[in-house]
Amino acid sequence: MVEVHQHDVVIVGGGAAGLRAAIAAVEADPNASIALVSKVYPMRSHTVSAEGGAAAVARPDDTLEMHGYDTVKGSDFLGDQDVIQYFVEQAPKELTLLEHWGCPWSRNDDGSVATRAFGGMTTKRTWFAADKVGFHMLHTLFQHSMRFDGIVRFDEFFVTKLLVEDGAVRGVAALEIRTGEMKAILGRAVILATGGAGKCFPFTTNGNIKTGDGMSLAYRAGVPLKDMEFVQYHPTGLPGTGILITEATRGEGGYLRNADGERFLVERDYGLGTKAELGPRDMISRAIYQEVQAGRGIKGPYGDFVHLDLTHLGEEKINSRLPFVRELGKTYAGVDPVHEPIPIRPVVHYMMGGVDTDIEGATLLPGLYAAGEVAAVSMNGANRLGSNSLTECLVFGAKAGEKAVEFARHASAGSEGRLRAQAEEEAGRIDGLRGKKKGGERIAQVRREMTEAMEEGCGVYREQSSMHQACRDLAQLKGRAADLVLSDESKVFNTEVLTALELHNMLDVAESVALAAAARKESRGAHACSDFPTRNDQEYLHHSLVWFEPGGPRVDRKDVTLGTWEPEERKY
Ligand code: FUM
Repeated sequence: MVEVHQHDVVIVGGGAAGLRAAIAAVEADPNASIALVSKVYPMRSHTVSAEGGAAAVARPDDTLEMHGYDTVKGSDFLGDQDVIQYFVEQAPKELTLLEHWGCPWSRNDDGSVATRAFGGMTTKRTWFAADKVGFHMLHTLFQHSMRFDGIVRFDEFFVTKLLVEDGAVRGVAALEIRTGEMKAILGRAVILATGGAGKCFPFTTNGNIKTGDGMSLAYRAGVPLKDMEFVQYHPTGLPGTGILITEATRGEGGYLRNADGERFLVERDYGLGTKAELGPRDMISRAIYQEVQAGRGIKGPYGDFVHLDLTHLGEEKINSRLPFVRELGKTYAGVDPVHEPIPIRPVVHYMMGGVDTDIEGATLLPGLYAAGEVAAVSMNGANRLGSNSLTECLVFGAKAGEKAVEFARHASAGSEGRLRAQAEEEAGRIDGLRGKKKGGERIAQVRREMTEAMEEGCGVYREQSSMHQACRDLAQLKGRAADLVLSDESKVFNTEVLTALELHNMLDVAESVALAAAARKESRGAHACSDFPTRNDQEYLHHSLVWFEPGGPRVDRKDVTLGTWEPEERKY
C-alpha cells in the first residue's frame, strides 16, 4: 500500500523559489508543516548555476519607477504592470533580507552593496557576489531553511501527478528515486517551484533537470500555460555545451566582435543605440544571428560563432569580478579570457512563459500555486531582463508561500483513502513503464527529434511554415512517446523511468511552445517571426494561453494589465 504523508503545504522544487516559499510559509504560520519535495538535493537545484546577479534598486541615482519602466519596456509591453510594480517595490527588501541571512554580496570600497550594469537596465542595479550569485543565494536560502523544524524535506523525490479531489489540489504523488516506491504527500495547498524547460532545446544553458515537470503537472491538471511562445536565447553560451558565460561579462565592459574583429553592435544599426553590448537579450541574440547569416561569423565544429572579448578588462578585474568565467573559459573552451576572446553563440536560457498565475501566485485550480521560472506571473512578458529572475524567485516565492499557507488554513484535507487510491493508480502506471521491452521507440531518439523540431521551428527567428511543421512533428512525437522501450526493470535508482517521464513532460511543454508561437502572427520580444516582422498591438497585445484538452490542446488569449506605461515602439 502507498505510504501517506500529511502536511499543510507541499512545495515541489528546492531551488530559490521553493526554498523562499517554504521559509515564508513557515514564518507566516510557525505551526504549519511544510513538505519540500525536490527531484534533486536542494543545493543541486538549477539556481546554483546562476552567475551574474539579482536586480533591485539600491543606488541613489536609481528609482523604483526606472526599474519598473525598464522591465515593462524589456517585456515589449506584455508584462502586467501591476505585477511589475509589486516586483520592483519588494525587490530591495528581499535582497536586503538575504543579506541579513548571510548572503555575501560584493561591496564597494565604502562598504555599501556593489551593483553592476546588466542588459536593458538604465543604471547599475544588479547585486552580485562575484559571478557565483546563484550558488551564494541558494546556500543562504538552504541554510536559513534549516532553522525551521516545520520544513520537512523529501530530497530526490520525483513528483509525477497532482492529486486533485472535488476540484481542488490536495497533494502530490511522488516517486522516491532511491527505492522506486510511490508516496502520497498530502497538503491542503501545493506550490510548484520546479523551474523551466530549457532541455526541450538542443543548445541550452539549462541543467539536465530542467524538463518542464511543473508546467506539465499543472497543464495536465487543467491549468493553462501562458505566453509559452516566448523563449529566451541568452546571447553568450559556449558552442557545443551551451554553458552560460554570464551577461556580467558585458556589464563589466566586455565587447562582442565578429570574424573581422568588429564590435558589430556599435558598427551596425541593430536598434540598440548606445546600449550596444548592454542591450536586451532578444535583440542581441538576433544581431549575432544576423552577423552569422551575413558571413561574419567564425567557423567552428558546432556551427558559426562570434567572440566575447574581455582582454581589455585586465587580469585583476577578471579575477575579482569574473573568476568563474575565467575558469569556464579555460576548462570548457580552452581559452584564457585574460588573453584571448571566448567563442559564444545564442543558446536557450529561460522560458518567459509558464503556469498561468495571478499576482499572488494562485492558479485556476484551487489550492495550486506556482512561483519562479515554472510560473508566468507575467512580469517578464515577451522578454525578461537579465538579473530580474533571481529576484523574481524571492519576491513571488515569498508571496506564494504566504498565500498558500493562508489558503491551507481554511481548506479541507480531502479524503485520505481516495487520495491514496489515486497515488496507487499512479504507482501502477509507473510500474507499467519499467522494463517495458516491447514497443518501438527509444527515449533518446524521440528526445533528439523533439529538440531538433524545437530548434528548427521555434529558434531565434521563426516563420509560419517552420512553426506549423514543429506543431505537426511534436504531435507525432507525442504519439511515438506513448510507446517507449525501457530495458531497466529495477526499482532502485531507475533513472531510465525518470528519463521517460521527463520526456513526456518536455513534449507537453514543447508542443505548447510551438502552438502558441504559430498562433502569434506578429514579432514581439523573443518571438521574432520572419513573415510578420513588426509588433501588432491592435491584434496581439494579449497573453496567450494553451489548455490541455482530451481532444488536443487549445490556444486561447488573456488580457494584459496595462498601467502607467503606454505601449510605445521599443528602441534603445
Ligand atoms: O548572464 C547571466 O548571468 C544570467 C542572468 C539571468 O538570466 O538573470
